[in-house]
Amino acid sequence: MLVAVLSVKGSPGVTTFSVALAARWPSPSRALLVEADPSGGDVGTRFSLESAPGLVSLAVAARRSDDPALLWQHAQALPGGLPVVAAPPDADRARAALSALADPSTGAGVLRTAASAPDAVVIVDCGRIDAGSPAMPIVRSADAMVLLTRAHADDLAHLARRLPAIGRWTAHPAMLLVGEGYSTAEVARELGVLPLGRVPDDPHGAAVLCGRPSTLRWGRSGPAHSALGQVAHKVAKVLIAEQAPPPALPRQAPADNQPMQVLRAVPGVHGVPGVPASPVSANGLRLAPTPLPPNTENTSRGGQAS
Ligand SMILES: Nc1ncnc2c1ncn2[C@@H]1O[C@H](COP(=O)(O)OP(=O)(O)O)[C@@H](O)[C@H]1O
Ligand SMILES: [Mg+2]
Repeated sequence: MLVAVLSVKGSPGVTTFSVALAARWPSPSRALLVEADPSGGDVGTRFSLESAPGLVSLAVAARRSDDPALLWQHAQALPGGLPVVAAPPDADRARAALSALADPSTGAGVLRTAASAPDAVVIVDCGRIDAGSPAMPIVRSADAMVLLTRAHADDLAHLARRLPAIGRWTAHPAMLLVGEGYSTAEVARELGVLPLGRVPDDPHGAAVLCGRPSTLRWGRSGPAHSALGQVAHKVAKVLIAEQAPPPALPRQAPADNQPMQVLRAVPGVHGVPGVPASPVSANGLRLAPTPLPPNTENTSRGGQAS
């Protein structure tokens, strides 16, 4: 299973959540994290990893081989043993490696091949993305996409324009709100999208997931017991269920303090300034973009996503 994690604005915690998702992916699957952020990687620096192996060595090796084991061979271990293919901090080098990996003739299939093994899940931190990102081919070939966004008016106003295109990037898109801001119900009401849940502000959990000193430690007591880790674990289980054939997940009333509940009905809520009102969809966990004319899709693929 290939899972793309990304944002379209700001820095809502994509890398932190990607580490949490991979670290807390339910066994018996083997989870691996790939840092595919064109603006350069953070994981290697945060966890004092060696400069190689990583995304650059993977891109070179992928020119010669599409061995499903390649990804694992170019990973280093985070505390607790989580394998990670880290991107170089330098944006130019990261973009070059990603462009090579995304070229079908030189190994675009390496991530897909590794992720297609029955017991494997490859979590890809695609960073902040737009239609021209070298990570976009990864998003488009992913089995699921997790879009992280903060829930303030400016974040939502930005998203409102782009959601119709974003919803077409992947078969199973999902949106997670991060931190304080408009409620899940308000976002659903205004964007016409059912957020999968909310990632809480969790400085201690984020610290351990970023390799900083914390009262929490890695291993079983770190990501597992932080609020971030618990939400990541629930998200993983929902993504797994989404891949499975029906029956569908049960629907329940909205509640921000129960992040994985799915909205069914939205009581009277206030508008978000700058966000045009749109009807609430009832299509489960997926983004529910307003249908656009066919030529709009062509535009979004060829240039800006919005
Ligand atoms: N849920 C969270 N609660 C508190 N702090 C967070 C959370 N997620 C991330 N952070 C912090 O925010 C900063 C940026 O996180 P990062 O994951 O690198 O963002 P992004 O990848 O979106 O740029 C880091 O210092 C991280 O510790
Ligand atoms: Mg990041």
